[in-house]
Amino acid sequence: MCQYSSEDGFANDWHLVHLGAFATGGSALIISEAAAVSPEGRITYADLGIWKDEHVAKLKQITTFIEQQGAIAGIQLAHAGRKASHDKPWLGGKQIASTHEKGWETFGPSALPFTDGEEAPIELDKAGIEKVKADFKAATLRSVEAGFKVAEIHGAHGYLFHQFYSPLSNQRTDEYGGSFENRIRLLLEVTDVVKEVWPAGYPLLVRISSTDWTEGGWTIEDSVKLSAILKQKGVDLIDCSSGGNVPKANIPNKPGYQVEFAERIKKETGILTGAVGLITEPQQANEIVTSGQADLVLLAREMLRDPHFALRAAHELGQEITWPAQYERAQWR
Ligand SMILES: Cc1cc2nc3c(=O)[nH]c(=O)nc-3n(C[C@H](O)[C@H](O)[C@H](O)COP(=O)(O)O)c2cc1C
Repeated sequence: MCQYSSEDGFANDWHLVHLGAFATGGSALIISEAAAVSPEGRITYADLGIWKDEHVAKLKQITTFIEQQGAIAGIQLAHAGRKASHDKPWLGGKQIASTHEKGWETFGPSALPFTDGEEAPIELDKAGIEKVKADFKAATLRSVEAGFKVAEIHGAHGYLFHQFYSPLSNQRTDEYGGSFENRIRLLLEVTDVVKEVWPAGYPLLVRISSTDWTEGGWTIEDSVKLSAILKQKGVDLIDCSSGGNVPKANIPNKPGYQVEFAERIKKETGILTGAVGLITEPQQANEIVTSGQADLVLLAREMLRDPHFALRAAHELGQEITWPAQYERAQWR
């Protein structure tokens, strides 16, 4: 979860404590917030980044701590595309003009702004597309160096790859626009370059928006097709989120509202899937996995409310879990 607490992309003690708390709290896998592969790919000027070698040292400290607690450290690699150059949410979250000292020019598949009144992105040309691929490759190499054992390509929430695969934001007429095959091309090419340098034994995840929740947009049927192709490319798991590419989508915010996507993609393609979204109860999370709807559950906001959710969930479900020795006296008995 984006913390918007970095300067020049650097992780700091906030990230160590924030992510470290999930590790002391018994989580199995801890995936970092979106880490920008380039400065222009940040949502805000305060995003976490992994675009230069100097970023690695602090990230390494964090992954080392996470592993010492018996958890696995994952990194989400991201490019915000046209949703870049914004302010921190708690400062209003508005787009910052490219001419402003804290803003920059943004890039997207087409010169279409996310919402009326925003500055339009610059349409990525071939050199720009090659730069995105090179940035993801370099960021993947740095992720290995930083000690991450899981990598996730952020292909959801209206960020760059989603902007390309959704017909609502892609009006290109070259090989990256038009047909389904063309619109998914950039995500596939980036997956290939990441795979080239990501160690074979380490899981590679792709988070997608399973639907745009909008007439004429990306659909769950498209997601099934895309997931089957990603599976052939050696992607290990599809993390099934939704929405984020258009401001007025009709999203049914109810418990587990995206689980059906994880279930359908898993059933129809055979790839492992992760379910996310309004999963807040141990029993609910357990049911999703044991009933075979998804292979893992990912929790976001509930973990902010209770970073030690996993310890509590194990207790409520009657499971044995290793507590940090320092916390043993707090166990429910
Ligand atoms: C503060 C905050 C930051 C988030 N940052 C990210 C992010 O960096 N990458 C991402 O894929 N999703 C991000 N999300 C979305 C969550 O990962 C998750 O998909 C969403 O909150 C729904 O799950 P939940 O109901 O468990 O919170 C963020 C959500 C919150 C609340």
